Amino acid sequence: MDRTRVTRASVMTPAERVMARCDELARISSTEGGIERVYLSPEHARVNRLVAEWMREAGMTTRQDAAGNLIGRAGPAAGEAPALVLGSHLDTVPDAGRYDGIAGVLMAIEVVRALRAEALPFALEVVAFWDEEGTRFGRALLGSSAAAGAWDPGWWELTDAAGTTLREAFLDFGLDPGRIGDAARRPGDLVGYLEAHIEQGPELDEGDEPLAVVSSIASARRFRLDIAGEARHAGGTPYDRRRDALLGAAEIALAVERVCRAEHHIVGTVGELQIHPGAINVVPGDAHLSLDLRGEFDGDRDRVWRVIQNEVAAVTARRGLTWSAREVHEASAVFCDPLLQGVVGEGIRSVVPDRAGEAPTLFSRAGHDGMAFASVTGVGMLFLRNPDGISHHPDEAVSGADVDLGIRALAAAVRARAVA
Ligand code: GLV
Ligand code: MN
Ligand code: MN
Ligand code: MN
Repeated sequence: MDRTRVTRASVMTPAERVMARCDELARISSTEGGIERVYLSPEHARVNRLVAEWMREAGMTTRQDAAGNLIGRAGPAAGEAPALVLGSHLDTVPDAGRYDGIAGVLMAIEVVRALRAEALPFALEVVAFWDEEGTRFGRALLGSSAAAGAWDPGWWELTDAAGTTLREAFLDFGLDPGRIGDAARRPGDLVGYLEAHIEQGPELDEGDEPLAVVSSIASARRFRLDIAGEARHAGGTPYDRRRDALLGAAEIALAVERVCRAEHHIVGTVGELQIHPGAINVVPGDAHLSLDLRGEFDGDRDRVWRVIQNEVAAVTARRGLTWSAREVHEASAVFCDPLLQGVVGEGIRSVVPDRAGEAPTLFSRAGHDGMAFASVTGVGMLFLRNPDGISHHPDEAVSGADVDLGIRALAAAVRARAVA
């Protein structure tokens, strides 16, 4: 163990320690000069080892579950008392910021450190989920779905960009796919789940508020669309003989924007596009695009997906293309537990100076592990101001002062839950 680091960390304030550790984890990346940590990678193993050390130093016993999630526990042992789970995730998107998920895990460790000597009617656990983002296999919320006992056996055959299946990745990481059911938590062993997370949008920053209660989490679906035309000579092929897959994909991306903009609280994003053969002098013959679709309500999201499919059918028919779509991820909207919304609100009111009346309440447009974990226990979330609302980007930020408020609000929420 690096003694200097531990000594320095122990004289910091909790918020300083969270900020310094976010910087430290940012250096554990599969890429040079950026941040990328995906599920079941060497970085996953390294980060779990380091964060487990921090959990133990804060008074927890630690284990890695059958899905690779890291769990720390303080207070009564499993079986002796149920646990209030605090947590978030440690995986990232490509070229990520350093706070999405990570700050929530590190803040939770500080809350346990602060409360471990207090008598609470439940154990405290910190769960660091893996693969909230779905960066490697397309399907998101893998770790939290395993913890919810909602693992779909069809996922074993999902592949990453190198063609490695999820099953092979489990084996390479040293996990046994046959034991995935061991990761499932039982509702009777849980008191609830509380997650602190940066907002990933501009509302708190624009409203000059540091913290908010989350009321619900948007529903999401993710698809991969394959568009097939014909690759031909870029000089010799007249326009009326072309079946250009890229132009079809481009029209589809614009249609997604047009359809979603006309809706309330629906956003659709084409974030990936590959064309084949991908040569300067060849009309693109194939295009592969992703679609990420989110809505406040499942019904609106599903209706918009039907409209988008009609648009795709019309564009491809007009251009002489064929198309198919595969769904790779679906998560229903989740309403946060009213009791946990109440205790998070109490936590915020107790720490934000001059805050009269109710704490601000926001709906989360981004996805979170609570979407999967909500099927086994109530979910509550605390949002922290995210300057400029920028996230999934290296400039993602949060201030140390807001992290300090967030840690104290989360600790107050835990205390409020203890007497609720
Ligand atoms: C997770 O960050 C998501 O994509 O919502
Ligand atoms: Mn994210
Ligand atoms: Mn996140
Ligand atoms: Mn192709």
